[in-house]
Amino acid sequence: MPGKLQSEKNSKAPKPGKSSGRFTEKPGVAAPYRNPRLPVDERVEDLLARMTIGEKTDQLMQTFVGESDNPNNVGSGSFRPTIGSVVGFWHGAGPQNNFQRMAVEQSRLGIPIMWGMDVIHGQHTIFPIPLAQACSFNPELTRMGCEVAALESAPAGVNWTFAPMVDICRDPRWGRVAEGFGEDPHVGSRFAAAAVKGFQGAKFVPGRNMASCLKHFCGYGFSEGGRDYSYSDISRQTLWETVLPPFHAGVNAGAMTLMSSFNDITGTPAVINRYTLTEVLRTRWGFKGFVVSDWNAVSQLARQGFSADPKAQTRAALAAGNDMEMVDTQYLCIPELVRDGRLAVKVVNEAVRRVLRVKFRIGLFEMPYASERPLEEYALLPEYLAKAEAAAAETLVLLKNAGGVLPLAGKFKTLALLGPAAANGGCMKGTWGGLGSEARMTTIEMGLREKLPAGCRLLHARGCDFEGADRSGFAEALAAARESDAIVICLGEPGDGSGEDQSRANIRLHGAQEDLLREAAALGKPLALVLCAGRPLDLFTAEPLAPAILNAWQPGIRGGAAIADVLLGNVNPSGRLAITFPRTAGHIPTFHAQRRRSREQGFYRDMGAEPLYPFGHGLSYTTFSYGNVTLGARKIRAGRALKAKVTVTNTGLRPGKETVLWYVSDPEAGITQPELRLIGFEKIELAPGEAKEVAIRIDAWRDLSYPDCDGRRILEPGRFLLRAGTGEPAEFVLEGALRAGRLE
Ligand code: NOJ
Repeated sequence: MPGKLQSEKNSKAPKPGKSSGRFTEKPGVAAPYRNPRLPVDERVEDLLARMTIGEKTDQLMQTFVGESDNPNNVGSGSFRPTIGSVVGFWHGAGPQNNFQRMAVEQSRLGIPIMWGMDVIHGQHTIFPIPLAQACSFNPELTRMGCEVAALESAPAGVNWTFAPMVDICRDPRWGRVAEGFGEDPHVGSRFAAAAVKGFQGAKFVPGRNMASCLKHFCGYGFSEGGRDYSYSDISRQTLWETVLPPFHAGVNAGAMTLMSSFNDITGTPAVINRYTLTEVLRTRWGFKGFVVSDWNAVSQLARQGFSADPKAQTRAALAAGNDMEMVDTQYLCIPELVRDGRLAVKVVNEAVRRVLRVKFRIGLFEMPYASERPLEEYALLPEYLAKAEAAAAETLVLLKNAGGVLPLAGKFKTLALLGPAAANGGCMKGTWGGLGSEARMTTIEMGLREKLPAGCRLLHARGCDFEGADRSGFAEALAAARESDAIVICLGEPGDGSGEDQSRANIRLHGAQEDLLREAAALGKPLALVLCAGRPLDLFTAEPLAPAILNAWQPGIRGGAAIADVLLGNVNPSGRLAITFPRTAGHIPTFHAQRRRSREQGFYRDMGAEPLYPFGHGLSYTTFSYGNVTLGARKIRAGRALKAKVTVTNTGLRPGKETVLWYVSDPEAGITQPELRLIGFEKIELAPGEAKEVAIRIDAWRDLSYPDCDGRRILEPGRFLLRAGTGEPAEFVLEGALRAGRLE
C-alpha cells in the first residue's frame, strides 16, 4: 500500500544481498504483483510495498558476473539473487538461467534479473557501425538493423541493450565517435528514434525485443580535446541546441532507459546532475523509465573531485535521479543512509519504482528465462545477412572519384588488392561488435573474389601493417600492382582502433601505410583507396595521392561484399557524410552548423578553413541536378505550416539514390543561429533521366524556432532562407510577434 510501506517500518531489514527466505504471500494465493492482467503501476506498488530496504537497494544495483574482453570493463562481481541487473553476460543461456532461477525461485519475492549487454550494431549479424549508418541517411536501415539485433539477442535472454548511443560528436579524435550518429542534432534525432523503435518494436514482445538505453546522458561527445572520460565544457545554449535533441527524440520514441555519462558537465558530473537527470528528463520530458549510471561512474566521482565518500556519492546520485549504479557497490550504503535519516526513503522508492516498472513492461516476470534454442535457429539467418549487406551498401561514401576511376568493372583483367585492411575481418566488424566473430566477416578480399567478373584475376598482397615502419611487404605488393591493370588499396585503422578509450591525437594514416599508397600511386595505374576506420581520418597528405577514395567505415559482416559491389559498379554509392572530414586535425572542431564570424579576416594563415569533405558530401556514379526551391506561400505564421518543394533529376546514365538535405538559415536572430541548420532529409531513388518532386512541410514552431539557454523555444519573426541541394534558395517571412513557448 503506497504511503505505508512495509520496508519503512521494517527495522530488521536484511542487509543488501541477503534475502530472508520468507514469502510474504499466503500459500496458494498469488500476490497481485504476479498477476499479468493488472496494470503495471498497480503491480509495481504492490511489489514495492512488500520489499525490505535491502531488497530495494539490490534492485538499484547492477553487477558483473564473469570476465569481459573490453579492457575497460574487466572485473568480477559477487552475485546476489536479489540483484537488479547483470551487465555483459554472454556465457550462454544455460548458465544465465541458473542465475535467473536463483532470483526467481530462491529469493523471497522472486524478482527476475534484467540482463543488459552492449548490442550496438548487431549481436551476431554485425551491421555497419552507427556512424556509418547515419551516412546512409536512411533511418529505416537502422530500425531494421536494431530489430535484427534484438531478434538475435532476446531469445538468448538479453533483454536490455546499452544502445543507441546518441552523443553528438564533432571531434574525430574521440574514439567513440564511431558509436554515434555523427555531428548533427537533426540526424541524431531521426536515427535515435529509429534505433529505439527497432530494438523495442512497435509493441514490446518478450523474447523478440530488448529495452533500449539512450546513452550517454549527456554531453560525453564533447569530452575535452577528444580525450575519453574528460571534462566537458558545454554551455546551456549548446546543451539545448545540440546535445539534448537526440535524447529527447529517443525518449519520445519510447526508450525505456537512459545511461548517465562519465563526463563532468561544466562542473557537475553527469551522474549527479540534477538538472539533466531530473529537471529536464523527468519534469519536462515526462520520462517514466529508469537511468543507469555508466560503469563505475558513481565511485569515479572521487577522481572527478566531488567526493570520495561512498555515502555522499550515493546520496548525490540518487537525489539527482540516477536510479541504478553499474558495477559499483557504493549504493550498498542505502539502508544505512535511510536509517540515519540522511536519505529519504521516498527517493529510494521512486528509483525502485522506475526499475520495476521497466521489468514489468518488458514482461520479465512472465518470461524470465532465456530460451535454450540452438543459435542457428535465430542468428545469422540468410535474410539477416542480406539486410546487413543492403545496409552496408548504403553507408559507403564515395569521397573522391577523379577521372571516373570508379567503378572498375570493364577496366581490368587483373586487379591488385593491397593494404592491411584488405583481408581483415576486424576492420569489417569494428568497435563493439557484439558476439560477432571476426572469422565470419566477409572481408574486402572475400567480397571481391565473390563478385569478380568472370575471367578476371585478383592479386592480393598486404604490403604493410596498420602501425610500424616495416616495409618488408612493399616489394611483393608493388610487384602485384605492376602486374595488374588497376589497384585497390585498403588502409585505415584496425577494427579496434576506434571505440572506447581509443582517443588519438594523430588521426592520419599510421605506420608505413601512406608510403605504400604513395609508391602504389606512383605506378600511374587506376587506383582506388578504400578507407576502413571508425572515424573521419586526417587525409591532409594522403588525399592528393589517391584519385579515388571510398570511405567504407566499419561496414559489418557483409561489408566486403558491399565494398566489392561499389568498386565494381554493381551498386551505385549513395552514402553522404554525417560528419565533417577536417582538412587536418588542426581544424578540429569543424562542422557544418557553425555560426557566422564577426569579420572576413581571421582564417588560418597557413591554409584555408574549408573542411576537406563537408557534412553531406558523397559522390555517386550518376549526377543529379536540383531545381530552385519553391514555396507554397511567401509568409508563415506561428502555428502554421508552409510547404516547400524541389525537383531533383537524375541527369546521368545510371540509376541512383540521392539524399535531399533541407537547410534553413535565420540571418537575423536574437540568439544568433548557425549559418545552416538541417531541418529535414529524404532519400530518393531515381532512374536515369527521371525527375522527382521532393516536398517538405515546414512547421513554424518545430522548424523555425530556436531554444534559449534553458530550453524555452523562441519563435522570432523575420526573414528565413530555405535551401536544398544546388538550386537557388527560397526566401520567406515569419510574421507576427516574438513568442516564447513552453520549456522543452
Ligand atoms: C562503459 C561504456 O561507456 C558504456 O557505453 C557501456 O555501455 C558500458 N561500459 C557497459 O559495457
